[in-house]
Amino acid sequence: MKKHLITISDLSKNEIIEIFKQGKVFKDILQRPIKKIPTLRGKTVGLLFFEPSTRTKLSFELAAKRMSADTINFSASTSSLKKNESIKDTIMTLEAMKIDIYVVRHPSPGVPAMITKIIKGSVINAGDGAHAHPTQGILDAYTVWEKFGDVKGLHIAILGDVKYSRVIRSDIEIFLKLGAHLTLCTAKTLMPNWIDPKVKYTTNIEKAVKDADVIMGLRMQKERQDSAIIPDEIEFNTFFGIKNIKIANKKNNYIVMHPGPINRGIEIDGDIADSKHSVINEQVTNGLATRMAIFYALFQG
Ligand code: CP
Repeated sequence: MKKHLITISDLSKNEIIEIFKQGKVFKDILQRPIKKIPTLRGKTVGLLFFEPSTRTKLSFELAAKRMSADTINFSASTSSLKKNESIKDTIMTLEAMKIDIYVVRHPSPGVPAMITKIIKGSVINAGDGAHAHPTQGILDAYTVWEKFGDVKGLHIAILGDVKYSRVIRSDIEIFLKLGAHLTLCTAKTLMPNWIDPKVKYTTNIEKAVKDADVIMGLRMQKERQDSAIIPDEIEFNTFFGIKNIKIANKKNNYIVMHPGPINRGIEIDGDIADSKHSVINEQVTNGLATRMAIFYALFQG
């Protein structure tokens, strides 16, 4: 594996499969009474979150701790950024403390890539603006791989806010690399113009989900929408939300996914998020195992 993980394009198909296999090993270890392994003993992981996070931050922190690394937490809101220190000077300060791996989330696209130029260790992109969220892509694809045994040939329908999502960019990249068929379904005002031609698009939700093995919702990214993109959220939910009435008559073995946090009653209804088809909480468990596998792959490299 390369030294840094900024987008899915940093990984070959074989490297992704190796991460999945190693993730499965770690997932089994996480079921044991003693969950700790010594792989990262003596290493320091810096968690640099310039934007809020629950799943990504906590699972990276726990993954590092399960692997015996030391962790330091940097939170923008309580840091000297508030006293006008620049990002570069902040990173140089952390570098002076000998950090080995930087896990970086930032509202601006490109910040994790910029940090690779000024540090000696590795950078993992934990989400940069609407650009990329590669570890979410990996855990999403792992969840499908584990459930179905393979990703190739599966039909995946993705609904919600495509335009402002960083998850979709990483998910499209990884699912196409692994041979899945993708269909997006959302309002035209929430479709960007960069979508890969291999990805289908429809505004008809029944058509999108009919043959889908996986139905995935994407959060309405209100913090990035700079103007009124949809008339209102209730109307969006009526036409494009994942609802029982829209996915009735489906074959029985489909799964429902969402990267979280979910907006119940907007992109997905609560009864679907809590249904037997939902693997939303399992995605979180898989996030911990696959992030351990990513640390492992970085240090092997
Ligand atoms: N899916 C995801 O990135 O969630 P958080 O923002 O809680 O980390």
